[in-house]
Amino acid sequence: GQFFAQQQLLRGKKVLVTAGGTVERIDPVRYLTNDSSGKMGFAIAEQARLMGADVTLVVAKTSAAIPTGMQIVRVESTLDMMEAVLSRLPEQDLIIKAAAPADYRPVERAEQKIKKKEEELTLTLVKNPDILQAVGERKTPKQFVIGFAAETHNLDAFAMDKLKRKKCDLLVANDVTAEGAGFGTDTNVVKIFDQHGLLEAPPMMTKAQVAERLLTLAAERLAKGEG
Ligand code: CTP
Ligand code: CA
Repeated sequence: GQFFAQQQLLRGKKVLVTAGGTVERIDPVRYLTNDSSGKMGFAIAEQARLMGADVTLVVAKTSAAIPTGMQIVRVESTLDMMEAVLSRLPEQDLIIKAAAPADYRPVERAEQKIKKKEEELTLTLVKNPDILQAVGERKTPKQFVIGFAAETHNLDAFAMDKLKRKKCDLLVANDVTAEGAGFGTDTNVVKIFDQHGLLEAPPMMTKAQVAERLLTLAAERLAKGEG
């Protein structure tokens, strides 16, 4: 029936999901990170498993429980995550980049704890590579890529720009300042875009419901060979 078909939508597919916020070390005891909880990525990984996929979950720093029943790869920095994703990319059918990689890292990591001295301390940061963009550039026509966009303003324009620049098949944008959306919550308010523009703008849903809708869309398009 419907339930069984739904469960089997990703049977035999290899799905790689990234989740959490990456950590950029300043010295052995200090680091830069962000507020990502990992919950959206975990909901997607869990739903992919329920739909029969062979799931690899690449996880950075998280404040939520990591799901089981899948291959877990722990990483720390954006560079680590990039290596973990690109080395596993060729065998994947579906790649979902729900992580919040730190955009910048300290230009150098002190070997020893930095001692306090002057009144001012300047930290120089250097831009990290964009993992999703690297995936978009390397992906074969059969692979399907879903990106995310966390925005506070101009959501539609920034989302479409990210989708095109990073060559995503679908992009899920959320206004992180909206009620019931964004970091740490169990619900989300999303807009889903494809190459043609806005595809769906469903009302507030749980992250599990967002995951189910998104993976159903991806599975339908994968089955049609629209990677
Ligand atoms: N992303 C990535 N590698 C990075 C930064 C972001 O793969 N170094 C991915 C995220 O996982 C997400 C998408 O790119 O799927 C958009 O992330 P977001 O932070 O919204 O966009 P940025 O391109 O980093 O732009 P900005 O933060 O300036 O809005
Ligand atoms: Ca960013």
